[in-house]
Order: sequence, then C-alpha cells, then structure tokens
Amino acid sequence: MSNIRVSAFSAKSYDEAFLTQAASSELCFCCYNLPLSPMSASMANGVEIVSAFVNDDLSQDTLEILHKGGTRLIALRCAGYNQVDLQAAKELGIAITNVPAYSPYAVAEYAISMMLALSRKLPRAYNRVRDGNFSLDGLLGFDFYGKTVGLIGGGKIGRLVAERLKAFGCTIVIYDPYNTEAVTDMGFESVSLDTLLAQSDIISLHCPLTDDTRYIIDEDAIAKMKQGVMLINTSRGALMDTKAVLSALKKHKVAYLGLDVYEQEGSLFFEDHSSEIIQDDVIQRLITMPNVLVTGHQAYFTKQALMHISETTVTNILDFVAGKKLINRVEAR
Ligand code: NAI
Repeated sequence: MSNIRVSAFSAKSYDEAFLTQAASSELCFCCYNLPLSPMSASMANGVEIVSAFVNDDLSQDTLEILHKGGTRLIALRCAGYNQVDLQAAKELGIAITNVPAYSPYAVAEYAISMMLALSRKLPRAYNRVRDGNFSLDGLLGFDFYGKTVGLIGGGKIGRLVAERLKAFGCTIVIYDPYNTEAVTDMGFESVSLDTLLAQSDIISLHCPLTDDTRYIIDEDAIAKMKQGVMLINTSRGALMDTKAVLSALKKHKVAYLGLDVYEQEGSLFFEDHSSEIIQDDVIQRLITMPNVLVTGHQAYFTKQALMHISETTVTNILDFVAGKKLINRVEAR
C-alpha cells in the first residue's frame, strides 16, 4: 500500500516513469513538472519528504516554507548541491541527501562526444548535408592523437575522461589540488592550474562549483591559454565567466566551445522556449557561432543514469523513513 507521499519537483514524465519503477509499494511520488521555489514550495504543504533537482531554488526562503509545511527530508536527484542553502537546512532540521554518482560514464562519454563533434564540425556537416550540400569547405578538423588535454578536476568523471582520451593518443594533464595522489596513481600527470592552461589544446572542466572554482575560467585564465584552445564545460555553468569566453571567441583565442551547462541555465534549460524570444543575449549570441555547441544539461541523460538516480533516491528516502543513518547525507560543514 502506498502510504508515504513524496512531492517531487522538476519531475518530467521520464523522471516519473523511472521513480515509479524504482519505488517500493509504500512510496507514492506526486510529480510536479515545475521547479521548486518560494512560489511553488507550498504545494508540498503537509508532505514530510520532498525531492528536488539540479536547478531548483533551495534558498533559505524556500526551505523555511517547506519547514513550515512539515518537510523533514529533501532527497536531491542529482550529485551537485550548490543550489541548496545547507546552513539554513541544518538550522531548520531538514536533512538533505544527494545521489553522489549516477553515471560518471554518461558524463565522461558526453564530454568526449562534444570534443569530437566540435573538432570534426559534425553539427555543421549534419545541417549542410540535409540541405543537399556535400561540400567540405569549412569542415577541416584536427586529429586528437598527439594533442594535450587538460582536465580541471580529477575525480570520478575527470579520471574516466582521462583514461578514454589516453586511448586516443592524447597527453593528459590534470589539475586537482585535492586529489593529486589518485591522479598520479593512475599514471596521469598532476600539474598546477597555470601549467594546465599554458599546455592544453583542449580544456575540460570536471570539478564542482565552489567558492574556489567559481569563474575558474575567467579573462585572466583565458589569457594564459594557447591560441585556438577548445573549452568544454559539462560541470556547472558558473565555473566559466561566459562573457569573457564570448569575448575570447570573437577574438579567435578560443576556437571551439562546448557547453552542456550555462551560468543562467535555470530560466532556460529543461524547457521548450522555441516559441518565445529568448531575452538572454549571451546564450543567443553563442548559439549563432559555428564553432560553439550548446546543449541543455543532458550529459547525465542516459537510461542507466536515470535508473541509478531513481534507485538511490528511493533508498535515501526509505533509509530516512526507517530512521537509518543516511549514507548520502550532505551537510553544512
Ligand atoms: P567528484 O567529486 O568525483 O570529482 C570532483 C573533483 O573535483 C574532485 O577530485 C575534487 O578534488 C576536484 N576539485 C574540487 N575543487 C577543485 C578545484 N578548486 N580545482 C580543481 N579540482 C577541484 O565529482 P564527479 O562525479 O567527477 O563530477 C564532477 C562534476 O560534474 C560535478 O561537480 C558536477 O558539477 C558535474 N556533473 C554534471 C552533470 C551533467 O549532466 N552535466 C552530471 C553529473 C555531474
């Protein structure tokens, strides 16, 4: 019998399908296809368990409304928790859990697919051929063999990207001040950020968004990079100062850009805006560039990842209900 209600926000039909499949009979997911925010939080009134996603607004305001309504657990369906005011949650006695790793393979494979698509100009080629144009002008690519790839963040995803690109014959350098040993144990070179910026032909971001990493790619960092560098961001939008990157694209300093995340993605991604005039001039300008590939936070989006997200979320919830230790709890330090 379903007797424990869970209000799941930002839950699309595909999320609902996987959550329902993973849920034991005692859980009932009430899925809302709208983001959690101070405006929508009261919809969870009287519900002890809420589930939220990557762009939901879990600021103090939202948390206070949820707390007043009786919410005691927020089960995030994502790894990152930079969208949560952890201090406020702690003070209000709301437990937060996450899904630490759903499929690092999905994101690693996606980052590499962005690199290859950009270098071989696949989006342009695809559109061109559909128009009956088989000319190769403007489609000249480059070999990955012999190129240096710099990875900022050598955790689960960064190391998978490193292993895979090593097989392409690339030289890999990794900047990760907190994980140097694991990186060198795997046979990869651990370098300073400045060395990585100076040596890399391709730079891919695989670190979390923290106070230290916000705008890790800014005007100064770009100035230290090679002319014609490729930048890939599948981690978090605010790791890059997007305006600085746009300016570097216009000057040809950055020759390729792949973004699956964007600083202002909260008001755009995961929704269909095709009938609107998008007001964000930065993303609109980026989308017009032939050497830029933007996708809407889909790196994680594989069957395996959705299954794992749902199963871990359900386990986190059942552990909470059973009063067990929450192994995936995230807390303010
Ligand atoms: P992880 O926790 O295994 O690895 C992150 C690494 O970043 C750690 O080794 C850590 O030491 C390092 N790091 C922390 N601060 C750093 C700094 N200042 N400079 C350089 N490195 C630093 O995390 P994982 O699973 O590899 O994920 C990486 C990121 O990928 C996540 O933080 C998340 O933002 C993003 N992600 C994006 C998804 C998407 O669909 N686009 C899906 C899942 C994760």
